[in-house]
Amino acid sequence: MDIETMVLHGGYKPDPQTGSTAEPIHQTTAYAYAKADEISDVFRGYAPGYIYSRLANPTSSALERRLTELEEGVGCLTTASGMAAIASVAMGLTRAGDHIVASRGLFGGTISFFVKTLGRFGVETSFVDAEDTDGFRGALKTNTKFIFVETIGNPKMDVPDIPAAADIAHAACLPLVVDSTLTTPVLIRPKEFGADIVIHSLSKFINGHGNSIGGAIIDTGNYDWANGAFADIRELAAKAGKLAFLAHLRMLIYRDLGCCPSPFNSFMHLTGIEGLTMRMERHCQNAQALAEWLAAHPNVKGVEYPGLASNAYHETANKLFGGRYGAMLTFRLGSKDAAMKFIDATELAQNLANLGDSKTLIIHPASTIFSEFAPEERERMGAPDDLIRVSVGIESVKDIIADFDSALQSL
Ligand SMILES: Cc1ncc(COP(=O)(O)O)c(C=O)c1O
Repeated sequence: MDIETMVLHGGYKPDPQTGSTAEPIHQTTAYAYAKADEISDVFRGYAPGYIYSRLANPTSSALERRLTELEEGVGCLTTASGMAAIASVAMGLTRAGDHIVASRGLFGGTISFFVKTLGRFGVETSFVDAEDTDGFRGALKTNTKFIFVETIGNPKMDVPDIPAAADIAHAACLPLVVDSTLTTPVLIRPKEFGADIVIHSLSKFINGHGNSIGGAIIDTGNYDWANGAFADIRELAAKAGKLAFLAHLRMLIYRDLGCCPSPFNSFMHLTGIEGLTMRMERHCQNAQALAEWLAAHPNVKGVEYPGLASNAYHETANKLFGGRYGAMLTFRLGSKDAAMKFIDATELAQNLANLGDSKTLIIHPASTIFSEFAPEERERMGAPDDLIRVSVGIESVKDIIADFDSALQSL
């Protein structure tokens, strides 16, 4: 199936009992069995079945099947949030004393998780500029357990060379983990470029309507867990084969952290995902037009958008995303004061801490998402004081530009 069909039909057929064309919301905590032996068999893995919704739930399973198809993976685990997906993967691959290599322009929450939370448990992270391919190789240590990149850094807007990062990871027998939240399977299937694990915050474009938090982990099937660098997962691979890593998470980290999604949220993501391909086309068109308009504006000091021919990551983005460049852009106004005034003056764009909604969203990252970091760290992470982040929506681009125009005129 083409992706336009998959977003509507992937992983679900009308319910055989009722004919319901929408996946039912299985709002249940646990699952009843007629016989004591039956539930015991399911517990011990001798028979398939649901036990308790912290481990698995049929509504979330439908979403997992659809996401597996969309990423052409071998399996998926949905989580309560994007952060829960990142935490589960990182904790599933490391122990105290281990090390992670990551690109520098990551979402602030991910950096905070790697540095502060994982740091408390004895796991260290080294950050490398996304374009510094040799830097990734040089940062590897004997205790490194994975390389982590975002397809487009939020808000640094840096685009790593994913095939090169995959080659470096694989040469060291390590998995490459790719957060594809900003690109979705519409712009890139990271599997085709060598990624081993794909992560999404479903809260963004996949949901598309800003109404539910969620996350997903997809195993692309590229990494050979049976011969990999993780002794416990190697053992599991004898039984679970390609699904060894996801089984390791579901039977241990994910189960113990209790980071399952609510079935209602999974239903909302399944509904939202149906319009994903059409939304992404429009998001990308609008973002390109707004980026070009901002780049030509005399009061704008700089625009970062990989769709601009002048952008440092334009060529890499072209290679990876097939001529579309996503919906997020950033621009600078020369001072924090001007950035704050601009945000106050917009009327259509909503000032909030999200991206990937159908509506246009703006935020001042330095005083919000990155406020816990020192000014020089914020600069390095791509969040200087005069920068505004925009998640360009699917409204009429004429109306978006008119809103930005009047806000810029008011400065
Ligand atoms: C690229 C990226 N990954 C992960 C996350 C975390 O996702 P969530 O907010 O669903 O926990 C975000 C949130 O903004 C993000 O932008």
